[in-house]
Amino acid sequence: MRLLSLMMLFSSLIILSGCASNKIQMDIKKDTFGKAGNGRQVDIYTLTNANGIQVRITNYGAVVQSLIVPDRDGKYEDVVLGYDKLEDYLKDSPYFGAIVGRYGNRIAKGKFTLDGVEYTLATNNGANHLHGGLTGLDKVVWDAKPVKKENEVGVELTCLSKDGEEGYPGNLQSTVVYTLNNANELHIEYTSSTDKATPVNLTHHGYFNLSGNCKTDILSHEIWINADYFTPVDEGLIPTGELRSVKGTPMNLAIPAVIGAGINEDDRQLKYGLGYDHNWVLNDVDGTMKLQASLYEPVSGRMMEVYTVEPGLQFYSGNFLDGSNVGKSGKEYKHRYGLCLETQHYPDSPNKPEFPSTVLRPGETYHTKTIYKFTVK
Ligand code: GLA
Repeated sequence: MRLLSLMMLFSSLIILSGCASNKIQMDIKKDTFGKAGNGRQVDIYTLTNANGIQVRITNYGAVVQSLIVPDRDGKYEDVVLGYDKLEDYLKDSPYFGAIVGRYGNRIAKGKFTLDGVEYTLATNNGANHLHGGLTGLDKVVWDAKPVKKENEVGVELTCLSKDGEEGYPGNLQSTVVYTLNNANELHIEYTSSTDKATPVNLTHHGYFNLSGNCKTDILSHEIWINADYFTPVDEGLIPTGELRSVKGTPMNLAIPAVIGAGINEDDRQLKYGLGYDHNWVLNDVDGTMKLQASLYEPVSGRMMEVYTVEPGLQFYSGNFLDGSNVGKSGKEYKHRYGLCLETQHYPDSPNKPEFPSTVLRPGETYHTKTIYKFTVK
């Protein structure tokens, strides 16, 4: 009898010690997501870190399809908008979670002159060019391979945008590496090279909603953007060229502000954007990684920090969402149910010599990086 209880004690100790070491393992898994219009197979990678954070990334448009992070009580929920099925991305997506380019944001009238040659790009936003044109990098199937290092898992995506595509000069070869680490950071690293001078401005177009599974709109989120100036726009959302102080205006987000507090103010810039849809001129830009923005949702306690080397940040408050995009788990993405924080060079830089240059020349390497870091407060 005594022997039996000793044996039972011994075996429960073994089970217990097994549990203690049963930590979540960093992991990367590949599944089929469907077939793109051209018949090419599309995959989806699931990245999990040791804290249970999970990111799903597909090689269609280099899209982050879901991003599951804990709230302050340890409840894991999705904080990005997107679709369950590839077909919905193929049909109609306002750039949900995608990499946009070659030029993220707008180029006036789809025209620019470089080294004395005038180029005409596809126009897809009224008279203007937006996010790379009709078939930007958000609508192509990228080549992908998994990346696994000691404390991070990721996906390396590559694509070639051919000379003349959407009107751009040069064969542009781009690599985007997404990595998730155990510090709860999603890193996005971009590298491009070209064989003819061309403008390049790649960014990530994730729609965030930290309430979790899109429970509320984003108006109660608190935002902070480290910027004393922004680039005011005309009716077509093309910058006028001016860098205007945010002081005394609803654009002042340098002191953390509840989005809903200023968004409906009687302000010409907000009227043009139908809300926030502007580029902030980030402070302290010196080419090194800086904490430049944060987003906080008070009910869940979820917080997201944005680090970047880029000089600008487009804050778009989901003004064009109207419920017609039915997303994950049948959720209707209504007005302002998601917001984008797109790290970038300023819009229309190819036509604004006074803005930091976006021109990449043969022999040079375009290299930029952004981190979205998740914490709770
Ligand atoms: C960007 C633009 C917005 C809008 C969205 C996509 O962020 O600045 O005006 O076009 O993309 O709907």
